[in-house]
Amino acid sequence: MKIGFVGGTGDEGMGLAYRFAKAGHTCVIGSRAAGKAQAAADALRAKGAALRIEGAANVDAARDGELIIVTTPYAALAGTLPALADALAGKIAVSTVVPMAFADGGAALLAVPEGSAAQQQQALLPAARVVGAFQNLSAKKLLGDRPVEADVVVCADDAAAKQEVMRLAEQIEGVRGLDGGALANSMMVEAITVLLVSINRNYKARAGVRITGIA
Ligand SMILES: NC(=O)c1ccc[n+]([C@@H]2O[C@H](COP(=O)([O-])OP(=O)(O)OC[C@H]3O[C@@H](n4cnc5c(N)ncnc54)[C@H](OP(=O)(O)O)[C@@H]3O)[C@@H](O)[C@H]2O)c1
Repeated sequence: MKIGFVGGTGDEGMGLAYRFAKAGHTCVIGSRAAGKAQAAADALRAKGAALRIEGAANVDAARDGELIIVTTPYAALAGTLPALADALAGKIAVSTVVPMAFADGGAALLAVPEGSAAQQQQALLPAARVVGAFQNLSAKKLLGDRPVEADVVVCADDAAAKQEVMRLAEQIEGVRGLDGGALANSMMVEAITVLLVSINRNYKARAGVRITGIA
């Protein structure tokens, strides 16, 4: 599958692209500047010559990708997504976005009028099939080569899209995809990342999420 990344030049987009390219997908790193995307793709390909990773402007990554993953900061959504709405109509558009700000030395969850960043993405991309996923995965772990050892809670109102993203998540070594219910539940998943940031600071760790009790 060809996976497009909107805002893919940051650590989260690069980390997911690295893992999905290792799993055999073609990844298109999107950026506001195509040259920056090319450089990011070159850097990832240097980690493995056989990796199929390209760089492109966000609009081209959105148009060329069969499935799209949005990895911009929360503050960028309203300025970035409307121009991509036509290109993303009918496609799965995954939100990895955590509405978070750093203040007084700690991380805080921002209030989102739509409820969650994933729901805001759906409002900005009315014809896309928005799925919330990967918000709790550490980019630094994704950029490494060890199994990630974490659960990815996947939330969506489109059942088929949710199942597809759960299967995709499990192509990252050490990851289990879990059905987290409706897209509105993304609010809780996004909030957990704020908690993880605090735990990481206290324990000098890169903590992840594992849900227990599921056979
Ligand atoms: N980092 C993590 O460990 C982690 C973990 C879980 C979830 N997340 C979530 O994943 C998303 C990406 O995280 P990140 O750390 O990779 O973010 P980031 O490095 O801050 O930003 C990613 C990319 O977004 C683009 N961007 C930045 N500001 C923009 C703006 N105003 N308008 C349009 N595009 C803009 C930039 O790409 P160009 O300059 O190339 O356009 C940038 O390289 C965030 O929403 C974050 O909450 C991150």
